[in-house]
Amino acid sequence: MTRHNTVPYYDPTKTDAWSALLQLARQVRKDRISDYFDRDSLRVENYSISVEGIHVDFSKHQICDDVLNSLIDLATESPLIERRDAMFRGDAINTTQDRAVMHTSLRSPDAPPDVQRELERMKALCRQVRSGEWTGFSHQRITDVVNIGIGGSDLGPKMVCTALSEFAHPELNFHFISNVDGASIRSLLQQLEPESTLFIIASKSFTTMETMLNSETAVSWFRENTGLEDPLQSRHFIAVTSAPDKALAQGISEQQILTFQDWTGGRYSLWSAIGVSICLCIGPDRFDELLAGAHAMDQHFRTARLRENLPVLLGLTGIWHYNFLGLESTAIVPYCERLVMLPAFLQQLDMESNGKRTTLEGHIVNYHTGPVVWGQTGTNGQHAFFQLLHQGTRTVPIDFIGVIKDSLSDDRHHRVLLANMIAQSAALLAGENSENPHRQCPGNRPSTTILLEELNPWNLGTLLALNEHKVFCQGAIWNINSFDQWGVELGKRLAGNVLEKMTDQLDPSTLSLIEKTGL
Ligand code: F6P
Repeated sequence: MTRHNTVPYYDPTKTDAWSALLQLARQVRKDRISDYFDRDSLRVENYSISVEGIHVDFSKHQICDDVLNSLIDLATESPLIERRDAMFRGDAINTTQDRAVMHTSLRSPDAPPDVQRELERMKALCRQVRSGEWTGFSHQRITDVVNIGIGGSDLGPKMVCTALSEFAHPELNFHFISNVDGASIRSLLQQLEPESTLFIIASKSFTTMETMLNSETAVSWFRENTGLEDPLQSRHFIAVTSAPDKALAQGISEQQILTFQDWTGGRYSLWSAIGVSICLCIGPDRFDELLAGAHAMDQHFRTARLRENLPVLLGLTGIWHYNFLGLESTAIVPYCERLVMLPAFLQQLDMESNGKRTTLEGHIVNYHTGPVVWGQTGTNGQHAFFQLLHQGTRTVPIDFIGVIKDSLSDDRHHRVLLANMIAQSAALLAGENSENPHRQCPGNRPSTTILLEELNPWNLGTLLALNEHKVFCQGAIWNINSFDQWGVELGKRLAGNVLEKMTDQLDPSTLSLIEKTGL
């Protein structure tokens, strides 16, 4: 039984803390961050936190104690705590869809019975596939798994399988098809043997155009290459959805449909049956570790005092940047190539959650909300966009993410990698004076450095939950709904209009493009 949102209307800009922060921004705007270290020998200690295997140093920000105290006041004056507790209680905080937001329950030892049952079903299937017990129509074991999905039905599984490749099953190959670009699926299918391929059709709604078309192409390929009349009835196709009736209607056998609840948002769904490709890749036990790491961060978020609450502090740091220093984007730069997909995952998590302009009550906001999130691994980024970060006219706060111990690397490489990451944050802070104006670096450029002890399922789960809750905190302070995504519907509808050449509703440029492309 979901209960409706119970927190009364609030406007962040009307809080005392907001006024204080505006005042402080005018004062500290000229501060040199490096002066803060001179003034407070304990600054690094006071602006660093270690929680559940993650160490976060957020001392390289233009945030002095007065600013931090006022940011904490803002969190206190906002409905953040009430909304957090409402989320964990199962209230319908996703007010525009009248849904609860309960992805945290997916990783809780006290998960509801139906969640536990489905998790066990998924793990049992994964054990059968991983052991070779699950065979296809020609009694061959599975060697290739193809996850067909997009957005949250792709990014989370793909990112985690890439990040945890160290733990991947040695005899299973994983492929992710998301874009409707036919070249992707066609080139993949040419490499596969139908007899030993398992397709996962991952779609919460089971209506997403790209996923449905990619699945149809996979089914046709399967039929053409095996002669099987109804491939969807075979053990080569699994559906993962919160709309099982739609999967059944498409002919997938019931015992091969894994389900999850509609109170799991797509971008929050890797913890659910959408994570079946992760569970196939790293195995059920390590999938449990991933869940446990996230659960540990959930407990921290639920219980830690605001001043020691990592999601709250990182959320407030962003609020300071976007709403008081006028910064518009955040760069995610993991110094670990296995985290190459993390920026894309966090892009959806953040921008699809907080890319909103309407308050919960339906008023248009008069303040900035979600930032542009982008990024790439380091050291590659140093040879792509770090020039702008050092000498551009825009200041971009950066989240550096490093792994202290990496058993897949070697000592020399790893030391160079970490030294570069640490040096970049130092250089962005210090800058460099020069007689030659072309060589000057202004410095005073903020960054957070997040260190994982090692890249294992537990620590990754903790890191991802940290980011989920950071996004939650910002959405609560902005008084927006972080859990719907109405903005993506218009484009989808117009794609239909373009395909059906409903020209009376399209602008002249679009009509010209339809003609030029011969659609
Ligand atoms: O981008 C819109 C969106 O609905 C995302 O929220 C979701 O993760 C993605 O499309 C895929 O949706 P589905 O899992 O229903 O196919």
